[in-house]
Amino acid sequence: MHILYAASEMVPFVKTGGLADVAGALPAALAARGHRVTAVLPLYDGVNRAGLEPGEEFMVPVGTWQVAARPWRSRQKWGDVYLVEQSDYFARPHLYGPPGGEYADNPERFAFFSRAILALCRELRLAPDVLHVNDWQTALVPVYLREPDDGDGLEQSASVLTIHNLAFQGRFDVTAVNVLGLPPRVLGIDGLEYYGDMNYLKGGILYADQVTTVSPTYAREILEPQNGCGLDGVLRARSADLSGIENGIDTELWNPASDPHLAAPFSAARPEGRRANRRLVQRTLGLEEADAPLLGFVGRVTGQKGLDIVLDAMPALLDLGVQLALLGDGDPLLTRRLVEAARFRPGRVGVATGFDEPLARNIYGGSDLFLMPSRFEPCGLAQLIAMRYGAPPVVHRVGGLADTVVAWNDNPDSATGFAFDRPDTAALLAAVAGALEVWKEHKLFARIQRNGMQRDSSWQARASACEAVYEKALEARRTRKIGGALKQAASPRPHGRG
Ligand code: GLC
Repeated sequence: MHILYAASEMVPFVKTGGLADVAGALPAALAARGHRVTAVLPLYDGVNRAGLEPGEEFMVPVGTWQVAARPWRSRQKWGDVYLVEQSDYFARPHLYGPPGGEYADNPERFAFFSRAILALCRELRLAPDVLHVNDWQTALVPVYLREPDDGDGLEQSASVLTIHNLAFQGRFDVTAVNVLGLPPRVLGIDGLEYYGDMNYLKGGILYADQVTTVSPTYAREILEPQNGCGLDGVLRARSADLSGIENGIDTELWNPASDPHLAAPFSAARPEGRRANRRLVQRTLGLEEADAPLLGFVGRVTGQKGLDIVLDAMPALLDLGVQLALLGDGDPLLTRRLVEAARFRPGRVGVATGFDEPLARNIYGGSDLFLMPSRFEPCGLAQLIAMRYGAPPVVHRVGGLADTVVAWNDNPDSATGFAFDRPDTAALLAAVAGALEVWKEHKLFARIQRNGMQRDSSWQARASACEAVYEKALEARRTRKIGGALKQAASPRPHGRG
């Protein structure tokens, strides 16, 4: 099959979150199974252009006008990546906006990008079997595939939308509607309309042949009002075409036995190197070089990730005798509270802000426990890395955390970490206290570490589930079977495309 994989970020080119890691790893795993894979993403200012080959300029419709763009090709081992250059939209310091903000023309930037993906297919005479798109930034691709003229030559192509985080929907004021160039019927309640606004993700959910999210539990959770972020009704209408495929990680990029950033590489058979990594973390963050249990965190500093819970629990956590090593960036207020906490408890709490790859890797490879008290978590990648790097995660049992971590309480023999059931201070503290009891029993704890390190979190183990979804999408395309909620919005045209 020929799969076109589109995303707004992708490792190694550009990354703000987990989407980039997934986009950087899944295409290779699909190609390894014999598929042809082509990827498309925007060419942002920060992307290193060395090795990129410029292609011919092509035109992309935006609203009622045309915008020129240029593809830059990067040849990867597994296939071609096209980075779409359009400097008015993408030559900016940030991907989506400055910290805590959004660029005002995001509706136009990503309507452009979604249409550019289809225009590029036409330009390069690509006729992928499946267009696999991700999150709101590319959610309009399934819509444009069936509406106006963009679908030409792509009548047989099916679309799959993956939701990495339902909290981000691309919801915009209706005044930007002109940039879409879509007929009115697509803009109504059975289309993009959402409480008087436009909602790009809603459009994608309604028009994609298949919808996936990044873990089976999250796929169930988002059908409920509590976790549906206002789209649970729309998702229920598509529930027959919705599935959850657990994320994997790139197990070559994340391999403690060959990780060049680690102070000392290690493996499940020879875990001794972890001590040197831990010392490096302690030294970097000004922590006492003691043998106290070290609790790590690496990730976005946001309410979703539960850093406020860690802050509230901090005095009691320190009473348990632990050290904390926290690395992340995000919400300015929460970040400031973390930095204050480190200043208040020097030697016991270490905080670094910003992006620090070597420190991140040594936290994974040197901590005794890894904290993930996320309020919700579509999948989560940090716990997969932590397990692989011998730091058993302590997680709130939700979404992908529930699916990927085997909790000590549930199954001591195959446990890979610890879990608690409420996202609050008391539950986190009880879980950490319980984990520390096990930590004292060296043999027991070493088994949990080993189980985690030997877990197969590779994409190779998951790519076949993606294939099955692609098959279903193609079947839906062939039979022009479409999801329940969009009968009116996307009823098949008399002939040609449906
Ligand atoms: C988002 C989600 C995270 C998921 C990642 C990759 O960042 O918040 O849970 O692992 O996307 O799918």
